[in-house]
Amino acid sequence: MKLCLHRESSPPSGLHIAIIMDGNRRWASQKSLPSAMGHRKGVQALDAIVRIATKRKDVSVLSIYALSTENLQRSPKELKNIYGLLKSYAAEKEEEFQKNDVSAFFPGNLQLIPKDIKEALETLSRKTKGGKALQLHICIAYGGKDEIIRATEKLIQRNLPVTEKNLESCLDFANTPPVDLLIRTGGKKRISNFLLWESAYAEIFFSDVLWPDFSEKNLEEALQFFAEQKRTFGK
Ligand code: FPP
Repeated sequence: MKLCLHRESSPPSGLHIAIIMDGNRRWASQKSLPSAMGHRKGVQALDAIVRIATKRKDVSVLSIYALSTENLQRSPKELKNIYGLLKSYAAEKEEEFQKNDVSAFFPGNLQLIPKDIKEALETLSRKTKGGKALQLHICIAYGGKDEIIRATEKLIQRNLPVTEKNLESCLDFANTPPVDLLIRTGGKKRISNFLLWESAYAEIFFSDVLWPDFSEKNLEEALQFFAEQKRTFGK
């Protein structure tokens, strides 16, 4: 029986942290800057958090919501800007990620983005394959509902019985431990179609800080919140 598994490795021992990095445009607007500047600062904030997470032994997986299926309806100008940032990111990070043992994945429906951007992201994934210090998932054209629909289509194609294990093996996040801590910045308290399956029992930390200002201190606060939770998984 052919399963849909596409990542082979022993399960990582540290936490899986997921981040909805919200507030880039409000950050820019508060400073009377164009929204493109908010996204650029957002990438800098992400860089810092990736470096911190890579060094921390208690974090193994970091999943970032960079572009949702719903975000694809934003203006062509904003999308062009975001695609430009992604393309530069893919080109610039190869050496750093290889040096720091980071593996990059790009879950999501990459058929929905321009081909050159898709190829640049896939190249970074290929070149960083096997990195063990941090599994970095940057979700692009990603929606939790869309991921579950695509996984269900794979189940049907492969004629597999509908079980939790089989469906899980067909998700973009197959072979990845579930989310332990979900952080949303920017003051809104909602999930916005992110990691619906994987966050079933995640602890959720909402921060009022706008993403470009999110710092190591704020990450520490989130981890402190997580440490204070008694996890029962419904039992
Ligand atoms: C949320 O803030 C941010 C986004 C929808 C886009 C984020 C994308 C990037 C930072 C660029 C691509 C990423 C990488 C890794 C290179 P918002 O625009 O919804 O802010 P708002 O809530 O203030 O409107």
